[in-house]
Amino acid sequence: MPAVSIHSLCKTYKDAVEPSLNSISLEIPRATIFGFLGPNGAGKTTTLSILCGLVKATSGSAKILGKDVSKELKEIKKCIGMVPQDIALFPSLTGQENLTYFGNLYGLKGKVLENKIEHYLDTFGLTNNAHKRVSQYSGGMKRRINLIAGILHDPQLLILDEPTVGVDVQSRKMISDFLKSYNKANGITILYTSHMLDEAEKLCDEVAIIDHGKIVTQGAPQALIAQQENCHSLEALFIQLTGRSVRDH
Ligand SMILES: Nc1ncnc2c1ncn2[C@@H]1O[C@H](COP(=O)(O)OP(=O)(O)O)[C@@H](O)[C@H]1O
Ligand SMILES: [Mg+2]
Repeated sequence: MPAVSIHSLCKTYKDAVEPSLNSISLEIPRATIFGFLGPNGAGKTTTLSILCGLVKATSGSAKILGKDVSKELKEIKKCIGMVPQDIALFPSLTGQENLTYFGNLYGLKGKVLENKIEHYLDTFGLTNNAHKRVSQYSGGMKRRINLIAGILHDPQLLILDEPTVGVDVQSRKMISDFLKSYNKANGITILYTSHMLDEAEKLCDEVAIIDHGKIVTQGAPQALIAQQENCHSLEALFIQLTGRSVRDH
């Protein structure tokens, strides 16, 4: 059973003229790191939001670990961790307090939760700042706390939306090294979106490139690069497939 299977998924937001997702199909094998790549507005966040039950699809189906997101969301929520694009933390609480809050939401408490928080704060180099308010944190520190909040309950599938955007090189390296070892050590499936194509090329077992709500290619990065003529990197392939027009307006 794949970790994620999506069939002919469509989404047209209310009052929108164009569909944001135009019949995408995708299978993500278990225990892989899967990169969902595409320019701004391609439909990445919409897809992840449907998988987490935050947005309802217009048609098509999406399953996580064999369970339909439109019918078995409660079960699904227990086995996925979602790290959203926009930081979802309480700025006036400390890093530690934020993590305790999110742990409690997942039913974790007491010493078990305390130990987990301590372990991850250490892993992400945040121990010395655990008792500072999040409003005083740098962008990279907030991202790392946001990530920890998504893994406290040991999900089988970790979904991250642009986890390395707006952070410094050191934080980015720490996050991508962590994702690699987390996947290797625990067989966790990781689905993440990114603009960092060099990072995705190194990190991902498989990628899909989405543009204008359609998947334009999918496969192992090296295989995709080898298939395309005059193409030596994922970034070159991305530009060839999605064009040069600028999308972040
Ligand atoms: N809540 C919404 N209502 C209307 N349109 C939306 C909404 N969210 C996203 N869109 C539109 O859907 C398209 C895909 O957006 P999104 O999934 O956020 O892309 P990406 O994450 O790849 O940048 C864009 O054209 C965007 O403007
Ligand atoms: Mg997005």
